Amino acid sequence: MHILPAQAADLPEIDVLLDARFGPARHNRTAYRLREGVAMDGALSFVARDGGALVGSLQCWPIALQPVAGAALPLLLLGPVAVVASREGEGIASRLITTALAAADAAGAPPVLLIGDAPFYGRFGFTAEGTGGWQLPGPVDRARLLLRGGAGLPRVGRVEVADGVRRAA
Ligand SMILES: CC(C)(COP(=O)(O)OP(=O)(O)OC[C@H]1O[C@@H](n2cnc3c(N)ncnc32)[C@H](O)[C@@H]1OP(=O)(O)O)[C@@H](O)C(=O)NCCC(=O)NCCS
Repeated sequence: MHILPAQAADLPEIDVLLDARFGPARHNRTAYRLREGVAMDGALSFVARDGGALVGSLQCWPIALQPVAGAALPLLLLGPVAVVASREGEGIASRLITTALAAADAAGAPPVLLIGDAPFYGRFGFTAEGTGGWQLPGPVDRARLLLRGGAGLPRVGRVEVADGVRRAA
């Protein structure tokens, strides 16, 4: 099993995996409002392949926190993370996450935000502390809005698509 940088050519297979794991209604989730029309960060997105077959994927996206006053601050949105059902519990998601976080740290990437289960993501350094006053472009379970890094970020703000990254419709 190999972890490889995600390429544009992987996207159709990633879509099939995400539909299988989250269902087609995944597009209604709030996180998708932050990804619509935006290309994944190719340097910080990864796939897991075994014998050529896609067995997992993790994508990251450029987003921003708009404070009440002042300039928007960059954040990285991590997710979705998915592993094929037949390969769960082998550590594939953990390898994808640690690979992406190591790459983000090495690149000096901004603090990482995700919407997910704290009992799972806590082990990678994510916590809901500090995000309670952040608004998203849709409903979110506060306990699932998790941040890694970002001490000193404003307590109140709007999480948005980063400036200039959305493609024209
Ligand atoms: C969640 C998911 C990515 C985990 O992938 P995986 O490769 O099986 O994960 P790993 O093998 O690296 O880690 C498994 C560990 O995480 C735990 N875990 C998995 N999902 C969890 C959750 N939602 N909450 C708490 N712990 C969880 C497992 O119990 C296991 O614990 P252990 O190491 O103590 O035995 C995979 O189950 C999946 O694709 N699910 C459907 C899509 C999804 O929910 N994605 C996450 C969205 S936030």
